[in-house]
Parts: sequence; C-alpha cells; structure tokens
Amino acid sequence: MTYRSHHCGELRIADVGNKVKLSGWVQKSRDLGGLTFIDLRDRYGITQLVFNLDTDADLCRRARELGREYVITIEGTVCERSSKNPARATGDIEIIVKNFKVLNASKVPPFTIEDETDGGDELRMRYRYLDLRRSPVQQNIVFRSKLAIETRKYLDSVGFVEVETPFLIKSTPEGARDFVVPSRMNPGEFYALPQSPQTFKQLLMVSGLDRYFQIVKCFRDEDLRSDRQPEFTQIDCEMAFVDREEVLMTFEALTKHLFQSTLGIELPAFPRMDYSEALEQYGSDKPDLRFDIKIHPLNEIVKDKGFAVFDKVEYVGGICVPAVAEQWSNKDLKKLTEWVQRPQIGARGLVYSKFQEDGSVKSSVGKFFDDEAQRQWLNHFGGKKGDVILILAGEKDKTLKQLGELRLEMGRSLGLMKVGEFKPLWVVDFPLLEWDEDSNRFYAMHHPFTAPATEDIAKMESTDRTVLKNLRANAYDLVINGAEIGGGSIRIHDRSLQQRNFDLLGFSREEAEEQFGFLMGAFEYGAPPHGGIAFGFDRLCAVMNNQSSIRDFIAFPKNNTGRDLMIDAPARVSEEQLDELHLELKNLK
Ligand code: AMO
Repeated sequence: MTYRSHHCGELRIADVGNKVKLSGWVQKSRDLGGLTFIDLRDRYGITQLVFNLDTDADLCRRARELGREYVITIEGTVCERSSKNPARATGDIEIIVKNFKVLNASKVPPFTIEDETDGGDELRMRYRYLDLRRSPVQQNIVFRSKLAIETRKYLDSVGFVEVETPFLIKSTPEGARDFVVPSRMNPGEFYALPQSPQTFKQLLMVSGLDRYFQIVKCFRDEDLRSDRQPEFTQIDCEMAFVDREEVLMTFEALTKHLFQSTLGIELPAFPRMDYSEALEQYGSDKPDLRFDIKIHPLNEIVKDKGFAVFDKVEYVGGICVPAVAEQWSNKDLKKLTEWVQRPQIGARGLVYSKFQEDGSVKSSVGKFFDDEAQRQWLNHFGGKKGDVILILAGEKDKTLKQLGELRLEMGRSLGLMKVGEFKPLWVVDFPLLEWDEDSNRFYAMHHPFTAPATEDIAKMESTDRTVLKNLRANAYDLVINGAEIGGGSIRIHDRSLQQRNFDLLGFSREEAEEQFGFLMGAFEYGAPPHGGIAFGFDRLCAVMNNQSSIRDFIAFPKNNTGRDLMIDAPARVSEEQLDELHLELKNLK
C-alpha cells in the first residue's frame, strides 16, 4: 500500500515491533531536547510519532519544520511508550519514524483543530472543511451515516420501497414559505422546492406502491433556530391500508431499532398522551418526560379568597419543585421572578410558597392565604416539606405555556434531565384546525391532507366556529426528550372530504383546483386509505446524541440568516442570467 498499512486509531501494544506505514495530518508537535513528538491524526484517531536527534539528526530536523495540519506519510516501527496515555486508544504505543514524506503543506489553520477548539461559530462555518476535521464533529457525521444506513436496512426489511420524488415542484403548504426557482423555459413561471414530498407520497399510495420511504431533503423558508435549518432531511414514509395504530406501531419499531442498533439502547413501549393533556399538564405539545414535575390547575382552591390577582384572571396554575425550599434564598426567587417576567416568557409575576423543613411556610402571598390554606395547595400537588410551589396566573393558554417554560427551566437548572436517558412519547388527537385571529381564518394544524378523527367527519359540515375549532385530527407526533422528532397523520382519501377541508381552510374552489386539482383528481381513481409520518432526521441525530442544535449533524449547514458562509451563498447572479430567466430586480442597491 502506498500510503498506509494501518490507520491512526488502530495500533496497540500487541503490534509492538511491527513495521507500519501511516498517513494523516500533523495535529501537534513538541520538541523535548533530543526528541521530537508529533501527534498524527486521521478520522480514526491519533498516533504519537517520535523522531530522535541522536539516531537520525537530519530526519529529526526536517520533522521539526512540519507545521500544524501538514499532510504527511510515514514509515516506522511500533514501540511501547515509557509514559503511557490511558485517555487515548493508541496511548500505549508510539512509532519510531524511519522516514517520512510531506504530501501537502498547510497554512496555519484559523483555529485549533482539536476536540476543544478556540474557533468561534462564524470562523468555523467559514472554514467548515477544517471544522469537519475535528473529531467530535466528524463523529456526528459518522453517526448520521450509520443512522441512515440502519433506517434503510430496517424499512427495507419490513417491505418499504425507497422512491425519489422531484425537487422542482409546485408549492405544498406545510406552514412555511417556499423557496422558488424561476423557469427559463417557461417565462414568468416558477417551481417551488418541496417543503416535504407530502403530495407525491400520497400519489404513490394511489399508484399501489403500498409502503414508501425516502431519506429526503426538504426546503422551508422560515425563521431559523437551533433545531431548524432551511434545508433539512426527513425520513419520509407513507403506508396504504393502515389505521393509526398500524402506523404508530411500525414507526415505534423503527425508532426502537435505530436506538438499539446505533446506541445499544432498548427503549420500552412508547406512552401516548392526548394533545389536550400535554398542554394542561406540561404546557407544551412536546412534553419532556425525563422529569416528573407536572402543572396543576389551582382555580378551584385559590379563587374568591380575596386576592385580586387570582380572582380576576381566567386561569391560575402552578408547579411543585421538589426539595429546594432550604436551598433557595429570597434572592434566588427574585431572580426566578425576573426570569418569568422576561419578554420571551411574558408572565406578569410569580407567586411562591416555600414549605420549610421545620414546618413553617414562607410565601409571597402570606397576607392573603394563611399557612393552612397553603398546606392544602401542597397536598393538592402531592408535595411535601422542603418543596416550593410556583404559581402563575393569567389567560389560560398563555399561562400554561409560561408554566411549561418554567417547568423546563427547573428541569435544566436543577439537572433533572439526565444525559443518556431517553423518554419517547406519542402525542395524539391534535385539533384539525387552528383559528388565526389576525387573518380571521382557519389554518390546518398539521397540513390540509390530514383526515379528521372518524367520529368528527360528520361535524366537518358544521358552520359553527366552535364546533370546527373542536374537530380532532387523526394526527400524531413523536416526541423524544421534549423535541418534536416526527409528525404524521392518516390522510383524507376521498375527493369530497378533501374539498370540504379546503373550503374550511378558506381556499376558493378555483384556488383549490389550481393548486391541488392533481391530488383530488387522483382520489377519483381508486385511492386507498393511507397514512404516514415524517421524522426530522437531523433532529433525531441531535437528540440521540443529547444535543439541542442540529447544525453539527449537518456537514455543510447554513447560519441563522440562512447563509452558507463557506461558499458565500446566497449570492447575486449576472445580468445575463437574470435576462435568461426573464427576471428583473427592483429596488435593489
Ligand atoms: P412536519 O412539518 O411535522 O410534517 O415535519 C416532520 C418533521 O420534520 C422536522 N422538521 C425540521 N427539521 C429541521 N429543520 C426544519 N426547518 C424542520 N421542519 C420540520 C421535525 C418535524 O417533526 N409532510 C409532513 C409529514 C407527514 O404528514 O407525513 C411533514 O413534513 O422533526
């Protein structure tokens, strides 16, 4: 072999005495008098090289000139190290180098290429190819590859067919803006990049493919966050002749397989929770079940006791935080009050009751509620001495959300979310429609192709907004550790029901026909009952590795203004290109 007999993570004590060839990057070089040590790195690990001034002065001098990130190939002999490094897999050995060759020099890299780097986000994004040399980032990309391969293996084993669907399509509404692509051959017309392959996978069911999947890029022009990228990947799936139960069981089994095969973790059966229960008890449609704190409504026991703040609001609720009464000072509670009052949370204030170990109660509302009344609250929560009750009051939906945020903050700050613990959950029975006050219309909570719960189909004909608001969808989300990993539904497969849904969503008949006539047309040619799901693949990778940002699981991600800093995209195009595309830019400097 020209370049290597082994890789840099491979050699062990049993190899001592063997002649080897290695190739890789110079991570670090140290001169200790007559000896020069170099850490040689490749994807698999780091091996220490030694050059001895006494035995080969010329070679040693050349080695001292090697800069960081030079690419070299070496020949030498494996030796046992006198001072071993137990933190490194190859830490028992080193290579006495006989000769080496520089394959390519390197400029001094803009940040250190080690597990812990001094490079800021922007610099690392600009030199992403260097950041990708760092082991933690590289491990993420390798993990992603394994997860994709295991997904394919599993879905193939249960009869799914991988089908590629087009990227140049017409808008599919999934709640975000489309990225559009002008068509040169069709002046004034645009393709949209798919927000998901939703309509195509449904058409594949009409075609009789029966079980479809695709690990596929999706494109959404929306505000970016740590768990959102403008182009991201889904494990997109659809099945014919299934009900909700069969879909949930199939994808619960896929998730279990993925955890088992990549992390060696056996997940228990996934619990299920109604959307309404998730909101009432966790203040979120994606509850993190790694810790047990739940929201309790307090209206019945705190109202009409003369405390105006509680009396005049729609909802009063709280959480009971275990075993912090002795630990939390007044200053801590003041900080927590300021935390809930930040605009991101938006609570007006925080009421607390501290149940001290000596039986006394300290509270911000002691004037209005005596100790006995507050002990009743504690009983209501099933709490005990040493706990603290935190209460928020206001409009119901907002207060529940604020309590949900407060609950998560408690989980984070008290270290209740254990690394390496996974709590999957199916959230079911979502509402079908969501009323938007600003635009005075309904939006689909999942997407317009989602079927209503069977019991609610007849109610689709209602014109009463309250009835329509309460329609339930046959939709489900997979949540793991508080992250929405997947979402799906049983679909409408009947033309008239689909038409009715578009009516409710405010599409005129012409608009519905223009945008989705092809789908409704297909429903007239024997569409089977069908349903499916899509997993956010980047999110799954991040959550399985206990991380909240998906960026480091994507080889070449965008920053939070949607830019690729390395290739500097998006960018202007030439006048000729614009002309060819029949486009004219207006009001741009
Ligand atoms: P949905 O819109 O819920 O459903 O998307 C499915 C999953 O994709 C992930 N996801 C994202 N990940 C990273 N960046 C984004 N911008 C982003 N947006 C979504 C989430 C989400 O749960 N067609 C339907 C699926 C179906 O009904 O079968 C759909 O796309 O993890």
